[in-house]
Amino acid sequence: MHLTRSFPFLLSLGLVPTALARPNARAEAGRSNGRAIYILSNEQQNSVVALPMAGNGMLSAGSNTPTGGAGSNAIDGMTKQPAGPDALLSQSALTVAGNSLFAVNAGSNTVTMFAIDRADPTKLKMVGNPMSVKGEFPNTVAASEKHKIVCVASTGAVAGVSCGSFSSCGIGAMDDLRPIDLKQTTPPVGPTNTVSQVFFSNDQDTLYVTVKGDPSKNSTGFLGAFPVQGKSACMAKASVSREGVMSSPEGTVVLFGSSPIPKSTDLFVTDASFGAVVLAIDPKTEVATAKGKGVIEGQKATCWSTISPASNTAFVTDVALNRLVEMSLTDARIVSIIDLAANGDPGLIDLEAAGKFVYALSPGNGTTPAAVTVVDVTSKAQVQHLQLKDAGLSKNAQGMALLFERSGDRTDNLGDMCRDTR
Ligand SMILES: *[C@@H]1O[C@H](CO)[C@@H](O)[C@H](O)[C@H]1NC(C)=O
Ligand SMILES: *[C@@H]1O[C@H](CO)[C@@H](O)[C@H](O)[C@H]1NC(C)=O
Repeated sequence: MHLTRSFPFLLSLGLVPTALARPNARAEAGRSNGRAIYILSNEQQNSVVALPMAGNGMLSAGSNTPTGGAGSNAIDGMTKQPAGPDALLSQSALTVAGNSLFAVNAGSNTVTMFAIDRADPTKLKMVGNPMSVKGEFPNTVAASEKHKIVCVASTGAVAGVSCGSFSSCGIGAMDDLRPIDLKQTTPPVGPTNTVSQVFFSNDQDTLYVTVKGDPSKNSTGFLGAFPVQGKSACMAKASVSREGVMSSPEGTVVLFGSSPIPKSTDLFVTDASFGAVVLAIDPKTEVATAKGKGVIEGQKATCWSTISPASNTAFVTDVALNRLVEMSLTDARIVSIIDLAANGDPGLIDLEAAGKFVYALSPGNGTTPAAVTVVDVTSKAQVQHLQLKDAGLSKNAQGMALLFERSGDRTDNLGDMCRDTR
């Protein structure tokens, strides 16, 4: 192709036509490789395990950094024993925003903030002290880099969502709970009738929370939407509205792990009772309706989801089945099923996607050790199975967050000067 010859010349002049530099949005997104993944140990002495990612997407052993708080376990409603795997009954027990990492401490009712060293993303430095979240049994956290807001949901006897602003100096005080009426205990009895996840919309202007219903009590779950109020003359900085819009989309019961669909306001959300849905959000009212429903035959509890930029599809996991189910972002129909049973894990929970890979956590079950399985979404095959019993992870482990590569990585350091804007 003759164009390639003039390409370096155009590049040096900064004259690369946009269409040439960015063949298409999907290919562009597909190049967003990861640098590291983070998993919460959720042990009594809680810690974050960081696993570095090589340029080819493969993981290796990393670091274990204490959060200064305590993990905990929900109570399994069937066995009345401490829950595990799925100790926190949630997605997003930890999250990355910019160079910051946030992790919940379900046993000490706090959230910990860390600064990530971009030169070595397994190096985490705690920023400030673990901050009280006002609720009991915090199990999920969301953070907006745009608004510098972190929100935590708690699902114990005192349940609800609390938010605070953060800066490079740490988290400011968390605000009063936006209560969620669950009539739970601490620790909560689940998995039904608990909070599943907090997360921000693609534009970060809405905070969502998913809450599981309880089919045995005829209580339906819901999606709550809380707008972020911008800066104005009387508000020095953005804050999350105290009033939310609650929707229980028809056919949904136990809404769980969610992923905002790229370049859209739709949400991809699992429902532990049957599979997953695509939800459309009315831009004026924020009311959610189901626009597609995927029922997974033989599923036990489809709870976690991620969206792969390489395939432009969602991948969901089931704590009791060792496989990935690939689903459409248009109507949640099943696209493929990737059976991973040969690696011996009992099932999968939290997962993330970057480049052409999906990274899925199996915390094990006490006899089978914790492991992360890496799957190539283009060949639909396992490319790595990294066991983590020496990393300090057990069946209590929960949550996965991923740091994406960006230009300037490996040169700038843990350098954000502490400028207090909290
Ligand atoms: C649930 O609702 C159905 C239909 O309204 C009713 O028949 C059933 O008795 C209810 N079950 C419980 C446990 O309240
Ligand atoms: C753990 O999972 C393995 C693999 O599925 C299974 O063979 C074993 O019985 C399980 N152990 C427990 C305690 O559930």
